[in-house]
This record gives sequence, C-alpha cells and structure tokens, in this order.
Amino acid sequence: MRFRPLRPASTPDSTRVAVADPPETMRAAVIEATGGPEALHEATVAVPTPILSELLVRVVAAGINPIDAKTRGGTGVSSAIAAYPAALGFDFSGIVVRSPYESHPLPPGTPVFGMVPFPRSGGSYAEYAVVPSQSVARKPSSLSHVEAAGVPLAALTAWGLVVETAHAHEGQRMLIHAGSGGVGHFAVQFAAYFGAHVTATGSTRNASWLRELGASVVIDHTSTRFEDVIADVDVVIDLVGNVHERTGERSLKIIRPGGLYILVPTGSWPGYADAAADAGVRPTGYKVIPDGGTLATVGRLLDSGAVQVYIDRVFDLNDAAAAHAELERGHTRGKIVLRVSDD
Ligand SMILES: NC(=O)c1ccc[n+]([C@@H]2O[C@H](COP(=O)([O-])OP(=O)(O)OC[C@H]3O[C@@H](n4cnc5c(N)ncnc54)[C@H](OP(=O)(O)O)[C@@H]3O)[C@@H](O)[C@H]2O)c1
Repeated sequence: MRFRPLRPASTPDSTRVAVADPPETMRAAVIEATGGPEALHEATVAVPTPILSELLVRVVAAGINPIDAKTRGGTGVSSAIAAYPAALGFDFSGIVVRSPYESHPLPPGTPVFGMVPFPRSGGSYAEYAVVPSQSVARKPSSLSHVEAAGVPLAALTAWGLVVETAHAHEGQRMLIHAGSGGVGHFAVQFAAYFGAHVTATGSTRNASWLRELGASVVIDHTSTRFEDVIADVDVVIDLVGNVHERTGERSLKIIRPGGLYILVPTGSWPGYADAAADAGVRPTGYKVIPDGGTLATVGRLLDSGAVQVYIDRVFDLNDAAAAHAELERGHTRGKIVLRVSDD
C-alpha cells in the first residue's frame, strides 16, 4: 500500500480572508473593579502582543458564560485578575492576524474559534485577543462568527461531562438538569448522539425545543418535582447545583445504586462527595479543559448538522453590561453573544 502525500498544512484555502496589521489600541469591554453589571464599560486599551506559540486573533464575536459574570461580581476567577482595567470573556470567534511561525496550520486570515487563556486571564470582549494555539480550532464553515462564539466553553464542558466523564452510550439513562442553558443544550445533543436515553429538566416554553435536540422526556422544573416522576437513572448531570431547591440532594435519590452524580457548579454544595457516597452513588465534579482538538471534533459535528448551537440574544460590545444583566436573570435559552466587530 502506498500513502498519498498530505497537502502541506499551510496550503491556502478558500476560507482565508485578507487581514490588516493590528493597530496599537483597540476597543474592549472592561471592569476597573469588581461589581454589578454596570461595572462593565467600553474603554480603549492596548492591543496585546502574542509570544511563542500564541496567535493574535481579530475578534468578531465573543460568547458570554456564567463564569464571566461571577468574575465580574468578585467570585469566579476574579482572584486571577492581575491588573485593572481588565477585559473579561473567554469565548471568541474571529480571524487569525498573527501566527506563531511561517507555515503554521492556522495562517493569518484563517477564521477560528476557541478560548483565550483559561482560567488565568480573560480578554475576549475586545477587538483583538492572544490565544494559546492549543485552545483554538478552525471555525465551522457553516456557522457565522456570532454562532461560533457561542460554542467553545459551553460545548467543551458538555463534551467533558457527557462523553469523557459519563461515557454516554446506547441505552444509558441520563438526567440533565438545566438542559435549556448554554452547557445543557449541548449536553442533551451529545448524549442523544451517542445513544443515551435523555431526560432534561426545563420549563414548558423550552419543552418542544428540547425534544427536537434529542431529549426523550422533559420535566418542567417549575411545576413538577423531578423525583416524583423519574427513578433509577444511571447518570445525573447537575448544572443547577444545590443552592436552588436542593437540586443536588434530591438528585441522589433518583440515581440507581452505583450510578454517577456529576456536580458542575461544585461550589454550590461543599460535601457533595460524602453525601453521594452515603447514598451509594459515585460522585464527581468537573472543570472545563480548553482543548482545541476536542473543539475541532465539535466543529465537525456542527458542520455535519448533527449538533446545533442556539443563540438566544446578541448584544453589541458597548452593551456588555446589558448582556451580563440578561445572563444573570438565569433564563437564557442556549447562548448570549457579543458582536465585537464586522466580519
Ligand atoms: N465547572 C465548569 O467547568 C463549568 C463550565 C461551564 C458552566 N459551569 C456552570 O454550570 C452552570 C450552568 O452553566 P450554563 O452556561 O449552562 O448556564 P446558563 O446558560 O445561564 O443556564 C440557564 C438555563 O438554566 C435553566 N435553569 C435555571 N434553573 C433551573 C432549574 N432549577 N431547573 C432546570 N433548569 C434551570 C434555565 O431555564 P429556565 O428558563 O426554564 O429557568 C436556563 O435555560 C453555571 O453555574 C456555570 O457557572 C461550570
């Protein structure tokens, strides 16, 4: 057998666009101190400089995640903020402006999506961002930048939970709390894709949409106590935590002996591991890993149409405060995204 020579990774492809040299300063949504949504405002700051294996990306759109709001409010990863003003945000979709070296597989002009250095520093709510090359992938060609910016952190978390931790498979009975949120809507789709029987908690207005995504059963969390209608599940993915109506403690009662309880907002329930062990259930938490290889796999699923991203609302960069206020209302369907610049 003869191997066919591979195309050089640097071969120009039709998706590349023209890029200009970056300016010295840029617009960014920053905080000067932690606080409420109003702490976020637009400012002019220096364009960051990439070093070694980092890329410089011109950001077209930035996804918003609960950790951004927690950080702005003084929890989340706020302890890692080295200096103010600090641009927030981890998710982006944009265009490569500088690559680490000649013939890099992601040359200037390539549309990409991914995460800026996580969790140590944010900075995607800005016109330019430096990005570790291991946390980036080519943007799915079927998605706009706004759509792609809603994918990275939420989809990587969902993949880590459903595929790498729960090992979703045919016939597995999985309950996903908050199936309609950013992480949840990807988790429902990944679990169904790998053959699991998916039950999701979500409100009535999201029920038919959750069924379209692959949930076999939807339990309205506003009117039904889930433990009254479901039992003996193999896995619970808890994206709500224990601060809301003791969702975690009640979840332990409906998992079969030896089943798996995954708590995502781990800070919501100190001691969950002991409580789960006492209930005869295997416990674990989970923290997202910003892996570009996994993101490329997710991108192929998005391009194939097997998985979709749902964008609930789009705000302009200078409206980042309003976007955070909307996120903190707690009823986002899918994702909220900031439009940072033109394509
Ligand atoms: N550890 C990690 O690496 C990691 C990564 C990502 C996210 N997280 C955490 O995981 C949590 C979820 O993140 P997310 O991005 O998916 O949040 P999100 O998009 O803001 O979640 C909003 C959704 O939650 C639903 N919801 C709220 N309370 C509910 C309840 N009691 N039962 C069922 N659904 C409920 C809402 O539905 P309704 O409109 O029907 O209320 C809404 O659709 C957050 O705490 C986040 O910080 C952790």
